[in-house]
Amino acid sequence: MRVLSGIQPSGKLHLGNYFGMMKRMVEYQNNNELFAFIVNYHALTSVFDADKLREDTFNAVCDFLALGIDPEKAVFWVQSDVPEVTELSWLLSNVTGMGLLERSHSYKDKMAKGISASHGLFSYPVLMAADILAFGGEKVPVGKDQKQHLEIARDIAERFNNVYGETFIIPEADIAEDVALIPGVDGQKMSKSYGNTIEIFADEKTLKKKVMAIKTDATPIEEPKPIEDNALFEIYSIFLDKKEKEELKERFLTPGLKYGEVKKELFGVIWEYFAPYRKKRELYLNDKGEVHRILQKGAKKAREHASYYLDLARKNVGLNYLD
Ligand code: TYM
Repeated sequence: MRVLSGIQPSGKLHLGNYFGMMKRMVEYQNNNELFAFIVNYHALTSVFDADKLREDTFNAVCDFLALGIDPEKAVFWVQSDVPEVTELSWLLSNVTGMGLLERSHSYKDKMAKGISASHGLFSYPVLMAADILAFGGEKVPVGKDQKQHLEIARDIAERFNNVYGETFIIPEADIAEDVALIPGVDGQKMSKSYGNTIEIFADEKTLKKKVMAIKTDATPIEEPKPIEDNALFEIYSIFLDKKEKEELKERFLTPGLKYGEVKKELFGVIWEYFAPYRKKRELYLNDKGEVHRILQKGAKKAREHASYYLDLARKNVGLNYLD
């Protein structure tokens, strides 16, 4: 099975990114063909500071490598090193209805907030479809927030195949129900744009501060604590197996639990969980040469795959005018 997914370098990566997508990608690489990439073209829709984009892109690459992407097993690259996707995006644009894009949540949310959207933001889902279709992605591990984008990608692929004949594989979203939408410290979806993230590689002090800031309710200590819509319970749970989660549930339901103590404990759990990855990350951050070699090799392989689908699409729409 060809498994593929990308992540934006528009800020530091957080627990939502890790459990929603990165961890599962790393697991998939052992038994599947894995394609993983950092989508810096997409980040251009929201980042207008070139230094920041460069820095965040390099950091995201090091993060993903440190977290276990193995460039010997997976194809791993930075989106802008494979320009074939932008050309494919144009071919897809012409079979994409305006209505389909107007229904996109990310675009509608911006409009509702009175923020004027750029054409890049409006056509964001088309570029994302190109990302997937250019490599024949079959299964796309994402968090629930990307569900609609995947549906749009499927619609675009189907429409293209209907108009021009079988060209693209129809991709499927792969959303893990237990980690579908991880809440941030304020209880809303954890997201860079809400400023409520717990970063994977925050330093000790910052991490502690973030965890201690998880919003909790005012249930008195001597009463059982709710586990529904409880960000502290939900975030802690993602680090636990089934049995441990049951135990945590019991603790919440037993009067006497102090949220502050659970938060301190959770901080320790997160800090320990990522300790081995932090070490590996330092090595990559300090070896730009090695990172460059990995990405060059990844982009070369990715371009070979993308060329196959791009050439087929060019031919099927009739750009091969000498044939
Ligand atoms: P991005 O960069 O916002 O997020 C990367 C991945 O992390 C998941 N995620 C979450 N999962 C659970 N709970 C959360 N709170 C949470 N926050 C983020 C996202 O669902 C995503 O899987 N449009 C994509 C990037 C992209 C892409 C692609 C993905 C571009 N091209 C092609 C798949 C295939 C995005 O902005 O993800």
